[in-house]
Amino acid sequence: MVITFCNGKGGAGKTTLSILLGCALADAGRRVAFLDRDPQQTATRWIEETKPSIVLAQPDAAYDALIIDTPPHLESAVVHESLAQADKVVLVSSPSPADLWTSQRTVGVIRQHHHRDKAALLFNQVQRHTLLARELGPLAERIGLPALTHQVSRRQCYQHALVLGWKALDSSAREEILQVALEIITF
Ligand SMILES: Nc1ncnc2c1ncn2[C@@H]1O[C@H](COP(=O)(O)OP(=O)(O)OP(=O)(O)O)[C@@H](O)[C@H]1O
Ligand SMILES: [Mg+2]
Repeated sequence: MVITFCNGKGGAGKTTLSILLGCALADAGRRVAFLDRDPQQTATRWIEETKPSIVLAQPDAAYDALIIDTPPHLESAVVHESLAQADKVVLVSSPSPADLWTSQRTVGVIRQHHHRDKAALLFNQVQRHTLLARELGPLAERIGLPALTHQVSRRQCYQHALVLGWKALDSSAREEILQVALEIITF
């Protein structure tokens, strides 16, 4: 299964979540490979430095899941290639309406390659028990993409994970990421 993470808006959390969700799937026993298509190469550096349970994709090797991280440039050929190649597309966005509206163009680009049921919106940096957090479903509908039921909270341990690896996450953070990962492979 090829899962592509995208958003034309920078800093939405594509790299952080693609890495963490890959680790969660690997933790659940899947063979997971990562294809870092962002010239910033953050994920590559992270995998090389922290040696997590996911590997950089090698040509002709077999995996259960191939995770693709993309740069925030919708006109980039690698974004289109990564969308065309995907079985599932995950658009990562914060729940801020301004960020969501910026993500609207990305929905149009996803639609050039996929029917609505192959793509989902993953809310990141959600602050629980806030007004915005209660309105996520209707917010997602406004940009025309179904939202995953599970979301990712704003937590400092997700930032630490880039140096400490999966062990930076406490049990509730691991559980949160695992629930999102399982929802992605089954939607
Ligand atoms: N759930 C979260 N909680 C706390 N910090 C987060 C969370 N998700 C992302 N961040 C932080 O937000 C910043 C941007 O995240 P990240 O680099 O993953 O975004 P991106 O979409 O890959 O950016 P780019 O478009 O530049 O590739 C980073 O500092 C990251 O640590
Ligand atoms: Mg990135």
